[in-house]
Formats: sequence, structure tokens, C-alpha cells
Amino acid sequence: MRIPHPIQYQGSKRVLAPTILRYLPRSMERFVEPFAGSGALSIACAALGRAKSFWINDLNKPLADLLNLIVNRPKEVADAYERTWNGQTGDSLEHYYRVREDFNRSGDPRLFLYLLARCVKGSVRYNADGLFNQSPDKRRRGTRPETMRANIVAVSRLLRGKAVVSCMDYRDVLANVNEADVVYMDPPYQGVCGDRDSRYFAGVDFDGFAAALSDLNRRSIRFAVSYDGRTGGKTFGRRLPGALRLTHIQLEAGRSSQATLLGRKDVTVESLYLSAPLAREMGAKPRVHRRGEEQRLMFEVNRR
Ligand SMILES: C[S@@+](CC[C@H](N)C(=O)[O-])C[C@H]1O[C@@H](n2cnc3c(N)ncnc32)[C@H](O)[C@@H]1O
Repeated sequence: MRIPHPIQYQGSKRVLAPTILRYLPRSMERFVEPFAGSGALSIACAALGRAKSFWINDLNKPLADLLNLIVNRPKEVADAYERTWNGQTGDSLEHYYRVREDFNRSGDPRLFLYLLARCVKGSVRYNADGLFNQSPDKRRRGTRPETMRANIVAVSRLLRGKAVVSCMDYRDVLANVNEADVVYMDPPYQGVCGDRDSRYFAGVDFDGFAAALSDLNRRSIRFAVSYDGRTGGKTFGRRLPGALRLTHIQLEAGRSSQATLLGRKDVTVESLYLSAPLAREMGAKPRVHRRGEEQRLMFEVNRR
């Protein structure tokens, strides 16, 4: 099955989404994504018919507004993308910089879609004033308008009438979930408190996040978290505290682009942590999920 994805976003879980979903219940009342980014998990979850409703949230307002437009006003956002993309005749780099300036002045989510499609590696970067300052990719013009429209329309069909999109701090989302929900969290890189990561609007500090997870445990909420990982011998991010009693699944995410460039075999492994009630329900044990074992795992889950 082809899963649509209109928003290019560095760090998107688009490729890993079907694997992550194998560790979540087959049928969910509501799927909650407090750090939605491109919404890759919610979109995959809807495409596979796994949840009745969705709560999609991101603190980045233009991004949350864009997700909302894609779901509820697909034609408007696809038309705007087509107009902006077609404006690339002549000096397309100058066009990009003009759109970027307009976006930084207005925060218009429709312009953000074009910037994400055209900027280097779909990777958002902000300066100290919170202005988007990523450069254009000089070799690509960004997704063609007809492909973008098809992706937008497909996402809207999957989520319209089923999804609520919001823009708030993840803690406000977590304060409002209940035992019927399944929460999937993919927070930004964990800097120390007060640090800013230019890739995202806001950082999430380790201790505050661990305390929020502990509170979810106390309330018996089912949740899964993508957090640290490793490439070859190099680790990134800190492991979540053992006191949270999470089940640690290591997902092989393939060779890093850096390793491929260098002709090395380093494989990236990303951690997925399952809360105790979720791990119990899924019968999940700590393990390494190797690439290519999808078929075998599907068989195991279906037998349960
Ligand atoms: C690693 S990205 C999520 C990527 C996403 N899983 C995907 O597939 O595209 C983390 C997201 O968290 C958002 N974010 C940062 N701080 C936040 C906060 N305090 N509350 C909610 N969202 C936040 C960022 O804007 C960013 O989009």
C-alpha cells in the first residue's frame, strides 16, 4: 500500500511508521501524536485503518496550521502550492528567498509547504529570532504540483472528519488523554534544559519529559516513545530511565546516508519504548527488530 506524505520533514518517521505500528494495538479508539511533525504516524495509522479518531499536535504553529489545512481544506492548499511552485520560472533561487521572506513576515502555512518541499533535505532551521533560515536545494525544484495535490487529497480523505489538529505544548496534550487513547511520541532531540535546537521551534528537556512519562504511567495510559538510537558504535540521545519500566525495542532503520556515502555498513538503530500497559497488551518483550522481518512479525501478532 502506498501511504501519502505531502510534507517533507527531516526526521520524519515515514519509512519506520509501518514497523512502529506493529507494536501498537490493531484497533485503537483514538491515536494521539503530541509531536506530530509531518504527521507520518497518524497518516500511516489512518491508511492502515488502525484508529477511529486522531489527535494531531505540534508546537510549531505554521506546521500545525498546515496539517489542519491539508486535512480540512485540501483544494485551497494544493492550489496555493501550485501557484507558488509555478512562480519558480526564471531565477528559482531568488523566488525561494522571496517566498521565505513572505513566510517569515506572515507565517502563512501554505508558503511553508513550498519551503519544506524546496529547502535542503526538508530540514527546517531557525535563527535566534525564530525566523526560518534554511537555504534552497539548488539541484531540485521540489515535489511537482500534481504529485503534491495527489498526496494532499489522499491525506484529507484519510483524516477528514476523524482528526483534530492542535498547536500546544505536549504537556497540555498529555494532561488531556485518557485510558482509551494510545499516545505516540517522537520528541525533538533532547538538549539540556534551556538549550535550543535550531531544527525545531522548541526543545524538550530530558527530566521534564521523563516526569511527564512517569505521570502517564501513574494514570495507566498506553504510550510509545521514539527516543535515542545508534549508528554503528555511535549513540545519539540518552536512554530513558529504567524507573519508567518501559519495554525497549530497537528498530533497525537501515544504513545512514553518511555511512552509504562512505561505503560503510553502519546500520542506524532507533529505540522505541513501550509503556508497561501497552507492552503487556501487545505481548512485547525487549528485542531488536531486524529489517526484513516484517512478514514474520505480522504472523506472530496475528496469532495473538
Ligand atoms: C522529531 S520531530 C517529529 C517528527 C514526526 N514524528 C514525523 O514523522 O514527522 C519533533 C516535533 O516536535 C515538535 N515540538 C518541539 N517541542 C515541542 C513541544 N514542547 N510540544 C509539542 N511539540 C513540540 C517540533 O516542532 C517537531 O515537529
